[in-house]
Amino acid sequence: MTQPATPTRPRARALGFIATSADGFIAREDGGIDWLLKLHARMPQGEDGGYAAFIARVDALVMGRSSFEQVVGFAEWPYGELPVVVLSRRGVAVPAALQGRVQVSSELPRALLQRLGAQGVAAVYVDGGLTLQSFLREGLLDELTVTTVPVLLGRGRPLFGPLPHDLGLGLRHVRHWPFGFVQCAWVPEGAPG
Ligand SMILES: NC(=O)c1ccc[n+]([C@@H]2O[C@H](COP(=O)([O-])OP(=O)(O)OC[C@H]3O[C@@H](n4cnc5c(N)ncnc54)[C@H](OP(=O)(O)O)[C@@H]3O)[C@@H](O)[C@H]2O)c1
Repeated sequence: MTQPATPTRPRARALGFIATSADGFIAREDGGIDWLLKLHARMPQGEDGGYAAFIARVDALVMGRSSFEQVVGFAEWPYGELPVVVLSRRGVAVPAALQGRVQVSSELPRALLQRLGAQGVAAVYVDGGLTLQSFLREGLLDELTVTTVPVLLGRGRPLFGPLPHDLGLGLRHVRHWPFGFVQCAWVPEGAPG
């Protein structure tokens, strides 16, 4: 007797939302984001650059180990109950207070998105420069929102890196604010959009 086909869920969609200096860095060489926090402080009360609307669209967060190591040092964990997967091949300690909310994984991007999709996760926030680069290289990033802030750092950790081929980007929106932030949302070519 033929078995009914098992319904397969689509992989989770991968969405990026990240800020860079005007010369394309997401952090200083030592990982510092003091420059970004300083510029954030100039934003008027109630303005968040679209962050709340973005985070409301995702069911989980995937971040690189370096990003986790920075954020875990913040006075307050900024992601509430949102499930977080930290990608690390070498492993990283998760504080007791975050057990159950933060999982460490060494899965490759495609396998991770497939597993999360099978668990009912529709969209994930992918964070961290090297991590975003690896999703872009695999053609797995569905959308990328980049907020460029008005400072030149001269050196630091870049948002983008080597790719196997050119990757065209479809522009979805552009916003700018009087305090000098410019935000572009892109859909990489080949992504469902
Ligand atoms: N400007 C912003 O909006 C913004 C946003 C986020 C982060 N940041 C800053 O950016 C810095 C971190 O970014 P980053 O580019 O240095 O690193 P990252 O992407 O946060 O972390 C990279 C690490 O993640 C692990 N990893 C596991 N699987 C991976 C995969 N498939 N692809 C890539 N990495 C994988 C590796 O850790 P193992 O070595 O353990 O294997 C790798 O070294 C931090 O300083 C953070 O504060 C800034």
